[in-house]
Amino acid sequence: MGRLDGKVAIITGAAGGQGAMEAKLFAKESAKVVITDVNDEALEKVAGEVKAAGGQALALKHNVTSAEDWQTVVDSAMKEFGKIDILVNNAGVTGQIRQNIEEMDISNWDKIMDINAKGAFLGTKAVIPEMKKSERGSIVNISSLSGIYGIGNPAYNSSKGAVRQLTKNVALDYAGSGIRVNSVHPGTIETSMVEAFVGEGNKEGREAALQGIPLNTLGQSEDVAYGVLYLASDESKFVTGIELIIDGGSILQ
Ligand SMILES: NC(=O)c1ccc[n+]([C@@H]2O[C@H](COP(=O)([O-])OP(=O)(O)OC[C@H]3O[C@@H](n4cnc5c(N)ncnc54)[C@H](O)[C@@H]3O)[C@@H](O)[C@H]2O)c1
Repeated sequence: MGRLDGKVAIITGAAGGQGAMEAKLFAKESAKVVITDVNDEALEKVAGEVKAAGGQALALKHNVTSAEDWQTVVDSAMKEFGKIDILVNNAGVTGQIRQNIEEMDISNWDKIMDINAKGAFLGTKAVIPEMKKSERGSIVNISSLSGIYGIGNPAYNSSKGAVRQLTKNVALDYAGSGIRVNSVHPGTIETSMVEAFVGEGNKEGREAALQGIPLNTLGQSEDVAYGVLYLASDESKFVTGIELIIDGGSILQ
């Protein structure tokens, strides 16, 4: 029996990086996964890998900024699997790693806020009615260290700060309905999102990043996925509104 036996999970941004890892780990732990992304080609590959390993997956092309798309995702999940136990709001984009507010144009601000903050708002709003009916649910919002501290990009920091606070607001309002909501705050995790900044091709950036991580290694997608798995599962049934930091100790200094 897996740690998510009998559960149905929606994971956004699951075409690669952390979302794909969560999809595979959740399926391995016996969840049925509804995986979504704007990149439907890569998403189908992830669904194929889940199925080849014996899991159940439904892949849906989905833009998290669209309320209509969200309704389709919820309707499709209900039709295919009959319930929604877990939502992982993982889809996200970053901007330039360092930028000040004078350098940031409005369209870039809007794009980052729309995907990262509005996407999590719309997803949470879309699944809550179904979770209320079953009087249980776990929503895991992927924020960032950037949602806690100041260094970085004004839109990215603001969007991840919004996700952090949305988490606490919804956690409080829906605790009485059996719905738990928690945020996860990864440090630097080696995915395509940060490849240009800390990948093997950028020795200087990589070295600088490592200097800021007491455990002296960059994070991997599975490091985050195991934390998300804990919050998604009933193992965390007494946990809501928390910030789970997964960062190799970066925040300590
Ligand atoms: N990699 C890091 O260092 C790091 C650190 C902290 C937080 N995060 C957060 O972790 C999450 C996962 O990022 P990752 O590192 O796996 O990066 P990634 O770029 O590999 O994955 C992000 C996924 O989101 C998808 N996406 C982008 N816009 C979308 C939209 N409008 N609708 C649906 N899907 C969309 C992309 O296609 C991609 O598959 C993000 O929310 C990111 O902000 C990443």
